[in-house]
Amino acid sequence: MLKFDEETTKLLEIAYQGGDISRRRRMAFDALYLSEGDTVVDIGCGNGLLTKQIALAVGATGRVIGVDPSKDMRAPASARCAAFPTVQIVDGLADALPLQDKDADKAVAVQVLEYLPDIPAAVREAYRVLRPGGRFVAVDTGCKTLDWFSEDENRMRRVQSAWDHHYTEARIGALWPNLTREAGFAAIEIEPFTFCDVTLRPDGIAFMLMHLMSRYAAENGHMSEAETKAWFDEQVDLARQGRFFFSLTYYRMSAVKP
Ligand SMILES: C[S@@+](CC[C@H](N)C(=O)[O-])C[C@H]1O[C@@H](n2cnc3c(N)ncnc32)[C@H](O)[C@@H]1O
Repeated sequence: MLKFDEETTKLLEIAYQGGDISRRRRMAFDALYLSEGDTVVDIGCGNGLLTKQIALAVGATGRVIGVDPSKDMRAPASARCAAFPTVQIVDGLADALPLQDKDADKAVAVQVLEYLPDIPAAVREAYRVLRPGGRFVAVDTGCKTLDWFSEDENRMRRVQSAWDHHYTEARIGALWPNLTREAGFAAIEIEPFTFCDVTLRPDGIAFMLMHLMSRYAAENGHMSEAETKAWFDEQVDLARQGRFFFSLTYYRMSAVKP
């Protein structure tokens, strides 16, 4: 598991408001085709940035339920959405949502499915809570698409393969058609979108991943702290020399309950 101390929490707050992650949220937002009055469940709502955007879009006659099992995530989400009486931030799990059958018009899960122990159960649960015609949107990392330059390819590979341990499923994009079809969904779509950077920005996904990946590899005993620090420092140097290159593709997936 990732550990979130004060420094990491601060870094994540910057990254989550930054250009890349704002774009990632926007990809999910656009695919929801929100209307005034919609009831929407934000599964694994995290710190509530998307939840709030959805609340603005569905208006005073809509309803937004942000579900997250983490108290530390629900606290900032509740604070962020406090001005919206239409929003409830509640404790719950993706495979046991606190909603009635056919309660929601839309369900969304951004960067959540790839961490779950039982992804098919979560997809079935989204199907259960959606009304016929309801739409399920998910955004997940294309874990196999990371292309990150380093002079030391072997070390780069080891940082990457350590990080692979923090996902439960690296192939969500490839599995999405079957996962959703088996649950009963139709109109299944997948759209890739890529972040490709040749500069290192403090608000960007690459910078956030440099912190998270180096810490994860060291704290979980995959690599020594000296090695991960050397990798981190190399990336900073490459950026200074104008030789930085990072590319990662995400998948935006959607499906409709017939
Ligand atoms: C990477 S964060 C994404 C947060 C938010 N969706 C976003 O994009 O900003 C993953 C979130 O999933 C939540 N989560 C973890 N296990 C979960 C589960 N079984 N069901 C629902 N959410 C879960 C975590 O607490 C965390 O807030």
